[in-house]
Amino acid sequence: MASNNGGSAPYINCKNVVKAYTVSDHEIVALRGIDFTMQRGEMVAIVGPSGAGKSSLLNLLGGLDTPTAGRLTVGDTNLIDLKGRALATYRLHRVGFVWQQVGRNLLFHRSAHHNVTLPMMMAGTKHFHRRRRAKELLAAVGIAEHAHKRPALLSGGQQQRVAIAVALANHPDLLLADEPTGALDRDSAAQVMQLIADLRQRYGLTILMVTHDMEMAAYAARTLTLRDGALGQDLTESANETPPQLDEEGRIQLPAAVRSQLAEAVRVAVEIRPEGVLLRPEQDLADDTDALLQDILPHKQSHDTNRRRLFRRNGRAKAQEVHE
Ligand SMILES: Nc1ncnc2c1ncn2[C@@H]1O[C@H](COP(=O)(O)OP(=O)(O)O)[C@@H](O)[C@H]1O
Ligand SMILES: [Mg+2]
Repeated sequence: MASNNGGSAPYINCKNVVKAYTVSDHEIVALRGIDFTMQRGEMVAIVGPSGAGKSSLLNLLGGLDTPTAGRLTVGDTNLIDLKGRALATYRLHRVGFVWQQVGRNLLFHRSAHHNVTLPMMMAGTKHFHRRRRAKELLAAVGIAEHAHKRPALLSGGQQQRVAIAVALANHPDLLLADEPTGALDRDSAAQVMQLIADLRQRYGLTILMVTHDMEMAAYAARTLTLRDGALGQDLTESANETPPQLDEEGRIQLPAAVRSQLAEAVRVAVEIRPEGVLLRPEQDLADDTDALLQDILPHKQSHDTNRRRLFRRNGRAKAQEVHE
């Protein structure tokens, strides 16, 4: 954590940050007083179920939205006070964003090279410097030989590499990544994560990344959990615990971090899946586990999970199955 040697004030300082959205006549509180700090050059992952507030937090740090209350600084910039032109400048120069949907960073009818030059055009960078920077970045993300192809001709992993180059075009210090590997197969996902980790070193980036996937989170030095708009346990400690052992009776002592994920569950469902064994917290049979499931399970499985839920609801299930 932050040391006391004078100069090392945290790069990101998030103090009691609240974000509420007003929808018609009521309020949705997406973040309920978030406190955390990050040092310059750190890479941190945030994990948590759908609706936890992960994207809301990233949007605040990226200057795409403003907090309802609290204190939020990035470097020497106070994001609470930033408005209009100053906020636009912050977004253009200080922060790069990568999303699960590469379409948020890319124009599909323009070449990879042209895409990387666009943020620099907006920043008023001279033609010569735009070309040089785009070339350098496309080489850094391993797309040099595809620079003149349109994204439509590239694979999902390659598209995300170009999107990362776009995010870094104007030399931001901070890279925010919202489920950057969510749409990729496992191999491409691992390659993109390795690239992000390498770019942190190469450009001295500070990186905050949102993911569902603990394997992807492992690329970060620190993992925070977000649930119902509140930060939970720092999972980093659990990396140092001895791995759980299975005894002859099939008993296993779960790490503290896993126990905390299951703490509020009414029961824990055990499922054997191709990639391993899943312990799934269940609340009430009918309610919000579905939202959680949508995130944890591959989408093609959702039909099965529906069926399982219906099965559990017994009597009522039959009638509903007809409708669904
Ligand atoms: N623009 C918005 N308007 C209203 N509600 C929103 C908006 N964005 C997010 N929310 C709500 O805030 C909560 C947190 O959402 P989000 O930050 O997207 O979570 P996550 O990224 O963890 O899935 C959810 O209940 C969501 O419906
Ligand atoms: Mg999200």
